Amino acid sequence: MPQPLAVADETGAFAAAVLAGLAQPQKVIPARFFYDHAGSQLFEAITALPEYYPTRTEIGILAANAGAIADAVGPGRAVIEFGSGSSTKTPLLLRAIAPAAYVPVDISAEFLFQSAAALGADFPGLAVLPVAADFTTAFRLPAGVTALPRLGFFPGSTIGNLAPPAAVDLLRGFAATLGAGSALVIGFDLAPGPGKSAAVLEAAYDDAQGVTAAFNLNLLHRINRELGGDIRIEDFAHRALWNADLGRIEMHLVATCDTDFTAAGETFLLVAGETIHTENSYKWTLPETRLLARASGWVPADAWSDGGGRFSVQLWRREDGRMEP
Ligand code: AVI
Repeated sequence: MPQPLAVADETGAFAAAVLAGLAQPQKVIPARFFYDHAGSQLFEAITALPEYYPTRTEIGILAANAGAIADAVGPGRAVIEFGSGSSTKTPLLLRAIAPAAYVPVDISAEFLFQSAAALGADFPGLAVLPVAADFTTAFRLPAGVTALPRLGFFPGSTIGNLAPPAAVDLLRGFAATLGAGSALVIGFDLAPGPGKSAAVLEAAYDDAQGVTAAFNLNLLHRINRELGGDIRIEDFAHRALWNADLGRIEMHLVATCDTDFTAAGETFLLVAGETIHTENSYKWTLPETRLLARASGWVPADAWSDGGGRFSVQLWRREDGRMEP
């Protein structure tokens, strides 16, 4: 799962993003700021909600297809997990494929080293080599790992929180970091289809217990806590909607009345019905995932899904310079 950013100037980055985002005609706050301590705990709670099917569906796919994944990947790989967080899905993969090394990569150093130690205890004999880094920028793999065949692991449909051009850039970066001969196991939450209605999607982002609403509204609490804000939280409501044209769930914070507030030294006014756009979660069709692979330097090799066609776990192999006509 995404983790709180641990960079020293995170509050400064948050202030800059809020000031810039609330000055846009469509007000926006980047989704990465969801994940302070409270937001990370709320996200953890979301993954266990009855409506939020992606986590348990992906775990089910990994468990049901462990043998096929192992056959396709082979033993002795170095597994590099991008944004490892609490590494909850990792044991399923590691147990299946018998790797030589595991490299969890996460920006939250403290959390990273704790979960790496816990995982190391469960897999004695496996070299666990945590790297505290922002996986969205270039970073170096630990020495020794580059001599092994490498397998990236990017579960959780985290790729869905990026717009397609940014997703292509990130996946190209993974190909560059992992190098020639590498492969990638990646999870995609799928677009509505025969076994999946838009209502299922919207419920996953607007649950009955209001946990996702609390997750979204936590951004406003965070502004009040960290940026000296005086936002009246009760003037805002959570909204999640499926945007069929753009193939994404959008989350917004809607002003339920005219409201004004101060944050980071600036005053802002929202009229009733105006929204702050806080997250996009793109959902993909299977042909789109194949196109995404090709556009970002990968060749789709295998794909495993649940019976309902809700989620897809895929194996891609790095495109290593074959000549095209
Ligand atoms: C982290 N990410 C893949 C989640 C998603 O489904 O887009 C974040 C999330 N937002 C609301 N619920 C979950």
